[in-house]
Amino acid sequence: MRLHSWIRRGSTRISPTALYTGQTWQAHGLGHPALAPELGALPGRVAYAVSERAFAPVRWAGGPTLTGFLLARHRVIDALLEDAVASGAVGQVVELAAGLSPRGLRLRERHPEVDYVEVDLPSMAAAKRRALRRAAVDRDHHRVVGADVFGPGLDDVFTSLDARRGVAVLTEGLLNYFPTLDVRRLWSRIATATRDLPRGLYLSDLHLDEHVATPDRVFAAGLGLAVRGGIHFHFPDAPGAESALQAAGFSSATLHRPADHAAHLPDMTAPGAERVRVVEAWT
Ligand SMILES: C[S@@+](CC[C@H](N)C(=O)[O-])C[C@H]1O[C@@H](n2cnc3c(N)ncnc32)[C@H](O)[C@@H]1O
Repeated sequence: MRLHSWIRRGSTRISPTALYTGQTWQAHGLGHPALAPELGALPGRVAYAVSERAFAPVRWAGGPTLTGFLLARHRVIDALLEDAVASGAVGQVVELAAGLSPRGLRLRERHPEVDYVEVDLPSMAAAKRRALRRAAVDRDHHRVVGADVFGPGLDDVFTSLDARRGVAVLTEGLLNYFPTLDVRRLWSRIATATRDLPRGLYLSDLHLDEHVATPDRVFAAGLGLAVRGGIHFHFPDAPGAESALQAAGFSSATLHRPADHAAHLPDMTAPGAERVRVVEAWT
């Protein structure tokens, strides 16, 4: 219980990062109008404007930028989820730590038959709920749950799923804020909860230790200080992460490189995109 309260305190400091990623999706045509008022909060706008200016010389020199890996991860997760839904393997989605991501709103516009549950800490969940009300979504099929993904609230989300339909569980922009033990536990909970459904797909971004250059470590240290928790690179390489996913209970696990999707997705070879991998694991 003490460990859980400690994780929870750290988690609330991560929430403002959702304003930054939300600004990124919006600035690159991936946003949704219903989210704009929530993204208008000053801290997110200032952080985004400052970082855009700070990275301008790096971008000009062709160096890696935050935007490079953020867009790569978001687009690859979107594409893998779209394939799983279009093939009929997945009929419901649980997006953990969804923040102000527009993914659920956008996906349900294309696939209104899919049930979507967004989970985040209570204050972020309240902001997302306001946005969904603005978008007048069908609340029986698109809902927001305020819960800590490391706490017991996640079990209620999983037990509420439709046992006849395949599910995709997503984490984006969450794992690297937490130590390896928490990540392994979360993966085991997801694998266990999805095992008895017709199909269980897990999608996430992941940063491997082997792709972290010295400037990235300096940036990560700064971000770690800002969220007062540290940034973690859990696995040395793709085989290490794939075997951890299998040990957690997934029957198959693949780590996608953005460059492998360059033929059908934009932004996959932008500087910075090579720093991220996308996990696709099935139960
Ligand atoms: C970097 S943001 C990513 C948001 C969104 N997935 C995206 O990519 O735009 C991290 C999110 O994780 C949420 N978060 C952090 N710790 C959490 C926890 N223990 N349980 C649920 N959500 C958490 C934060 O509130 C925040 O919305």
